[in-house]
Amino acid sequence: MANQFDALLQENRSFPPSDDFRKQANVSDPDIYQKAAADREGYWAGWAKELDWEKPWDKVLEWEPPYAKWYVGGTLNASYNCLDRHLEERGDKTAIIWEGEPGEVRKFTYRQLHREVSKFANVLKSVGVVAGDRVAIYMPLIVEAAVAMLACARIGAVHSVVFGGFSAEALRDRIQDAQAKVLITATSGYRRGALVPLKKTADAAVAECPSIEKVIVAMRRSATEEADETVSMTDGRDLWYHDLMQSASDDCPPTWVDSEHMLFTLYTSGTTGKPKGIVHTTGGFLTVAYATCKWVFDLKPNDVYWCTADIGWVTGHSYVVYGPLANGATVVLYEGAPDWPKKDRFWELIEKHKVTIFYTAPTAIRAFMKWGEQLPQSRDLSSLRLLGSVGEPINPEAWIWYHKYIGNERCPIVDTWWQTETGGIMITPLPGITATKPGSATLPFPGIDAQILDEKGNAIEVGGGYLAITSPWPSMLRGIWGDPERYQQQYWSKWPGIYFTGDGAKRDEDGYFWLLGRVDDVMNVAGHRIGTMEVESALVDHQLVAEAACVGISHEIKGTAIAAFVIVKEAGRELATNDPAKFEQELKNHVAEKIGAIAKPEKILITADLPKTRSGKIMRRLLRDIAEGRALGDVTTLADPTVVASLKEKYEEEA
Ligand code: WT7
Repeated sequence: MANQFDALLQENRSFPPSDDFRKQANVSDPDIYQKAAADREGYWAGWAKELDWEKPWDKVLEWEPPYAKWYVGGTLNASYNCLDRHLEERGDKTAIIWEGEPGEVRKFTYRQLHREVSKFANVLKSVGVVAGDRVAIYMPLIVEAAVAMLACARIGAVHSVVFGGFSAEALRDRIQDAQAKVLITATSGYRRGALVPLKKTADAAVAECPSIEKVIVAMRRSATEEADETVSMTDGRDLWYHDLMQSASDDCPPTWVDSEHMLFTLYTSGTTGKPKGIVHTTGGFLTVAYATCKWVFDLKPNDVYWCTADIGWVTGHSYVVYGPLANGATVVLYEGAPDWPKKDRFWELIEKHKVTIFYTAPTAIRAFMKWGEQLPQSRDLSSLRLLGSVGEPINPEAWIWYHKYIGNERCPIVDTWWQTETGGIMITPLPGITATKPGSATLPFPGIDAQILDEKGNAIEVGGGYLAITSPWPSMLRGIWGDPERYQQQYWSKWPGIYFTGDGAKRDEDGYFWLLGRVDDVMNVAGHRIGTMEVESALVDHQLVAEAACVGISHEIKGTAIAAFVIVKEAGRELATNDPAKFEQELKNHVAEKIGAIAKPEKILITADLPKTRSGKIMRRLLRDIAEGRALGDVTTLADPTVVASLKEKYEEEA
């Protein structure tokens, strides 16, 4: 990347908060870390008290590792906390500013959103959804998606949002695993000027989902109000969202649920082929989403807050819907791509809606860098006052560029580390307190015990190791849907009673955390988690593939891209040799069909053999070396070292 930042980077500069920012920040007391650590339960009780409870808890925490209960005996409702409690003071304030990709804008005040959610909650009741039922949501980023989530929460139903970019098979697997009763989808959504046919994909999935009783379909109208009428509706199963809403009452008192009542499940990739349904409960999740929004983003009622994540990811749960709305902020939702119709769409949105807080991913920032600073420079971004980053380590070059060209050297940057499992931000600067260093997520949020441990569980004060969380926190996952064994094994078996994150990290002399990436077989492609096994299973599913191995390789924009090594069956040899480009494309499309476009390998290498240890384990480290064109590491544990050499040659030939 450009060397223009070398000076800034070499100085190993840190960026302390400005006096102005410190003075107005929601939290500016540097002793808050000690105070929280001295009485962790009292501190987290303090946060929960900022929410509205129907009945207060009897006990803050019950901890029987690895099972935690927070705010035991308390009852509340998440949608009440996001909507009803704001009505008196700011009912006419804008809750959501939505912009569709074609450019249409819809605004909802808190009162209007409350009405929509209440009506849709009654719709859900009318089709037989009761508390505890799972409801799958497969939608584009339209207001109805947020309404659907909040309506589930209102009646105590458990939502399971599936990213709209996932394939029919991926949707089917998630619906089947959760045994969802109802699916909420939309006709389509806009992406780069084209309609993505969600309903069609949903139909293919639901054909194999006997648990689904009803499918509710929101109509995605175009900017000119034209209906997308390309879909077919199945009699007795499919219902129009707008029809049901028309006759629904807007009076739906919230169902008060236990603090530990399940709020949602969200599927994420792990080290095995099958994605796991991460379970989050109401009181603890909402408390952390609310608290981190307030302190990390310094969220105030007059902020216009935009997190670019899709609701299909955990970021869309904690930091598009629940956290900002629980704080009573104005949330921007944008349906489409950042480069449509032009590569300055995000800057245009910030200028137009006067966004004050902007939260996005390093992969997007690297794309913006490539498109050039002229684009943001020709827009008025002066409304911005804070920037955030999430999803993968942010490289210092991207950090500095973000700081300089988006934040105008004025806005603090919060690099936030967390996971689907943690429910909320765990390691992050506090913008009024923490001096930031480009590339470091800095320090654990007050009340969070994060440490670097070695294999045996010894703490490493300065240096590298595994990132662990050593005390329970309110928004920690409560389990994996239907698989308690795997919950125990995956997160709690490395060190008893300590949560293993799957990430490597190091700490510097100032105690700052620097994230180093996954230490398991999970890849982080453009901020999305994808298991190597998942992609390998998808490839092996192709009729001409005998064996496959995937590794993450570094990529200029995505951070990590997927390289796949494939052994072709006899029947496929001809196609693979005569037209390798066509064959590679066919395999990529197959993966997209099985999982979704985000899992497409960047590069597929056809090989006669794979490097394996004597015990038959694929040596991914070597594959990575080959795919990234590095000199080969130690090969003495290989069953047949020549396999590697020939692989490397082949790869170099292709490159
Ligand atoms: C994995 C979790 C958390 C919301 C989005 C992803 C990586 C996430 C950072 C960061 C370095 C990060 C980790 C983590 N990650 N944020 N700021 N710096 N790495 O959620 O899909 O559950 O993925 O994303 O590797 O384990 P997720």
